[in-house]
Amino acid sequence: MDKLIIEGGAKLRGEVTVSGAKNAVLPILAATLLTDDACIIKGVPDLLDTNTMIKILSSLGKNVDVENGVISVTAAKSGNFVADYKLVSTMRASFCVLGPLLGKLKKAKVSLPGGCIIGVRPVDLHLKGIKALGANVDIDSGYVVAKADRLKGGHIYLGGAYGSSVLATDNVMMAAVLANGKTIIESAACEPEVVDLAEFLIKMGAKIKGHGTPIIEIEGVKHLHGATHTIIPDRIEAGTFLVAALITRGDIHIKNVFFQHLGALIDKLQEAGAAITKKDGSVRVRYQRPFKAINVTTLPYPGFPTDMQAQIMALMSVTSGISVITEKIYPDRFMHVAELNRMGAHIQREGPHAIVEGVKGLSGAPVMASDLRASACLLLAGLAAHGKSTVSRIYHLERGYEDMEEKLKKLGANIRREKE
Ligand code: EPZ
Repeated sequence: MDKLIIEGGAKLRGEVTVSGAKNAVLPILAATLLTDDACIIKGVPDLLDTNTMIKILSSLGKNVDVENGVISVTAAKSGNFVADYKLVSTMRASFCVLGPLLGKLKKAKVSLPGGCIIGVRPVDLHLKGIKALGANVDIDSGYVVAKADRLKGGHIYLGGAYGSSVLATDNVMMAAVLANGKTIIESAACEPEVVDLAEFLIKMGAKIKGHGTPIIEIEGVKHLHGATHTIIPDRIEAGTFLVAALITRGDIHIKNVFFQHLGALIDKLQEAGAAITKKDGSVRVRYQRPFKAINVTTLPYPGFPTDMQAQIMALMSVTSGISVITEKIYPDRFMHVAELNRMGAHIQREGPHAIVEGVKGLSGAPVMASDLRASACLLLAGLAAHGKSTVSRIYHLERGYEDMEEKLKKLGANIRREKE
C-alpha cells in the first residue's frame, strides 16, 4: 500500500480540471446490462471503483474496452446473472447491477454488499422496490436471489428513515424501464448522478419523466438499444478543490464544473467568507478574509452533500469559533474526527453532531485514511498543517479521485508518494 507525504503551507494557485463523476459512471456502466447492443461511455475517470465495475461487467458476460477515458461495452455472451461476493464486497455500488440484471434477464443473484466504515448500509429499500415490480426475492447464503416471470409497473414509495436512497432509486429505475406498464417512484433521490443515469437510459430508448424531482415516472418498453453518453463532472471532486483552495488561502480556477450542482456547498462556503465566482463551465475560488464559523447539516440533494462533510470539517477545524456539523445521512460518518484531532484539531463528537472548535493551525502528523472522503479530508488538513503529514492507506483516495496528487502538485502543493 502507498502513502502520501505532504509538507503543509503552500497556497494553492492555478487551474485544475475536474474528472467525470464516480457516482454517475458506476450506475451508468451497470445500465449497459440492459442491452446487448454496444454502448460508448465518455469522460470516464480512471478509478479503482470504475475498474471494479468493469470487472463485474466482464464477469456478467460483457466485453469492455477502455481507452483514454472512453469505455465501450458490448455483449460477449449474455446470460450470467450472478454478481460474485468477491467483487461486490469490495465496492458497495456493485449492488446496482441488481436492477438491470432483473430488468433484462428477469433473474439476478447479487451478493449483499455488507456494511462499511461509514455505516450499516442496508438495502431494504432496493428490495422493497423490486418486489413492488413483481420480483420474488430471497436471501440465500449472503446473496439476494431475485426472479420474476414478468415485471409489472408499480407505485413505489422509496423514502427511508434517512430520506431518499440514490442507488435504490437507480436500481428500481433500471428494473422498471423494461417492465410492463407504468412505474411511479415516490420520494426518489434527486442527485445529479441519478439524473445522468436517467438521461443515459432515455438515450437507450427508455421512457422516463420527472428525474431530478422526488416523483419519477417510467413507462416500460420492450427493448433498449445501445447509446453513447458523456458522464457529468464530479461535483464532489469540484467541492474538494473548492475547500483545498480555501484551506490553503489560495486562489484556484476549477474547470469542468456544473455550478448548479454545487448550490448548497457554495452557499455555505460564501457564508463562511469565501469569494466564489461562476464562469462558463468553471468556478473561481479565492480566500479573501478570515473565515467565520458556520453550522452544516448534511441532507439528500439539493441539501448539503454528506460526501463533502469530512472536507468542510477540515476547513472548519482551522476556522475560529464553534462550528456544528450534523450528519443526517450516515450518523457514524466521523472516522476522520480522531485523525484530525491527532493533527491538533479540537473536535468533539456528540452522536450525529461534531462540535468543531477552530484552532489557529494544525500540525503535521502521521494519519490513516479510513474511507474515500475521510482520506480527502486528511489530505486537505495536511495541505494546511505546519510541517509534514503522512496519509497512509491512500488506496481509499484512489477509489474516487483521479490523479489527485498530480492535480494538487500542479496547483503548487508539496506532496509525494511513498511505499508503505
Ligand atoms: C450513494 O450511496 C453514493 N454512492 C454515496 O457516495 C453517497 O454518500 C450516498 O449516495 C448518499 O448521497 C454512489 O452513488 C456509488 P443511499 P448509496 O442509499 O446510494 C439509507 C462516496 O463517498 N438506506 O443514498 O448507497 C443509507 O443507510 C459514496 O462517493 C437505507 O436505509 O446511499 C443512508 O443512511 C459514499 N436503506 C441513506 O439511506 C436502503 O435500502 C442514504 O443512502 C438504502 C439506503
